[in-house]
Amino acid sequence: CFNDKIPEGLRRLPGPKPLPIIGNVLEVGSRPYLSLTAMSKRYGDVFQIQIGMRPVVVLSGSDTIRQALIKQGDDFAGRPDLPSFRLINDGKSLAFSTDQAGVWRARRKLAYSALRSFSTLKGTTAEYSCMLEEHICKEGEHLIKQLNTVMQADGRFDPFRHIVVSVANVICGMCFGRRYDHDDEELLSLVNLSDEFGRVVGSGNPGDFIPALRFLPSTAMTSFRQINARFNAFIQKIVTEHYTTYDKDNIRDITDSLIDHCEDRKLDENSNVQMSDEKIVGIVNDLFGAGFDTISTALSWSVMYLVAYPEIQERLYQELKNTVGLERTPLLADRPNLPFLEAFILEIFRHSSFLPFTIPHCTTKNTSLKGYYIPKDTCVFINQWQINHDPELWKDPSSFVPDRFLSSDGGEVNRQEGEKVMVFGMGKRRCIGEVIARNEVYLFLAIIVQKLHFHAMPGQKPDMTPEYGLTMKHKRCHLRATMRTSEE
Ligand code: HEM
Repeated sequence: CFNDKIPEGLRRLPGPKPLPIIGNVLEVGSRPYLSLTAMSKRYGDVFQIQIGMRPVVVLSGSDTIRQALIKQGDDFAGRPDLPSFRLINDGKSLAFSTDQAGVWRARRKLAYSALRSFSTLKGTTAEYSCMLEEHICKEGEHLIKQLNTVMQADGRFDPFRHIVVSVANVICGMCFGRRYDHDDEELLSLVNLSDEFGRVVGSGNPGDFIPALRFLPSTAMTSFRQINARFNAFIQKIVTEHYTTYDKDNIRDITDSLIDHCEDRKLDENSNVQMSDEKIVGIVNDLFGAGFDTISTALSWSVMYLVAYPEIQERLYQELKNTVGLERTPLLADRPNLPFLEAFILEIFRHSSFLPFTIPHCTTKNTSLKGYYIPKDTCVFINQWQINHDPELWKDPSSFVPDRFLSSDGGEVNRQEGEKVMVFGMGKRRCIGEVIARNEVYLFLAIIVQKLHFHAMPGQKPDMTPEYGLTMKHKRCHLRATMRTSEE
């Protein structure tokens, strides 16, 4: 606890004075990425707040965060024990649970290798370089058809509503070997719950820190419980079907490969990490959850930025037209030849910072950072938004300027600038879906920008104010899309 004696030579953490019971909840407010960024200017890169009775260390600044998550990676690799995290995946989540280092590491390795093998698997025809590409190209075509149908019927569409189904189908294909129709009620009701999920697990939700709030009839927490129960039931049903039809000579998807791992392990008496079958097969729950919400949020924001910056949309279209042409669907191999699209995606990651904080971390032992003492089991927030808007790193950080990532002749992406953007975390807990995510955002965007021209509703401007959560969403809205003609 923070009343611990500070070891000699180390300092006590600075920070705002907490009120009794609620701590600094009022100063943190409803937009913690802004309030905690403002506090970092006053108190520095390492400071302490109190949410309810619980001390939380907030880290900002690229060098400080790198020092904590990379150089002292093991000290900062834990997850805090928060009530909302215990409800996710029945407390057995890979990303949110308080698994000990050995178990977490073994599960992470397994998740990573399953994900990699099923995304790089050969496509069903030579047209596609891998399964990931095949899934995205097919879903991209469905999405365009779907948006056209909706435009003809209603004259407008809700971007998140349709993008989320396409993105969910890509990860469903890899995890479960199946896809859902755009009107499938079961999938729709599930994927449309993700806003609510993000609101509760976003860093700094008072319900997670103030014990008294847990006993009040909180609608957010009740619906969070229900969301998780529905999500688990959905996946459990598919997993049960997989167990029934499992054939070790025909591993169809990630779920089969995890079941197969359980079977193999039973034969391997030397395996030293003890993991239940549930914890192994439960990995698919994390992959599905992380795989659809993040990418659909990124793509839905991208469409909003296309509408908000029509001249950028035009440049992207012209780049595609000149490089890929209009006769064939863009592929992963085209990515290096589309630097402006790459710069646009980097600028969306930076400017929206739609994952403003990583998932909260926790110290695994007594440690120190920049001369400040941080005891074991301290909850740590990593402020990615602050890095992406730090005036020391970026010229005019609040402006949306994809060109900041291009070489002076505009011909290529400046990799060094690109690496300064932080949205996937770093170090031991870094996102394991990063390569897939970057490829998927790129390919979906290339496919839709080649075919569709997006516009705001007449007389309306897109509302770019984010709604706070683990992944920040734009407000649900309606837009218009028209098919591109070759003269454009
Ligand atoms: C963790 C970002 C897509 C799987 C994370 C974290 C971030 C992140 C910030 C937390 C890092 C930390 O706690 O320090 C993103 C973004 C994505 C994306 C911005 C898309 C644009 C994906 C995809 C998958 C995935 C497609 C899998 C299919 C995971 C998993 C973890 C994770 C399993 C937990 C890792 C752990 O706790 O060890 N991601 N992610 N993510 N991500 Fe992603």
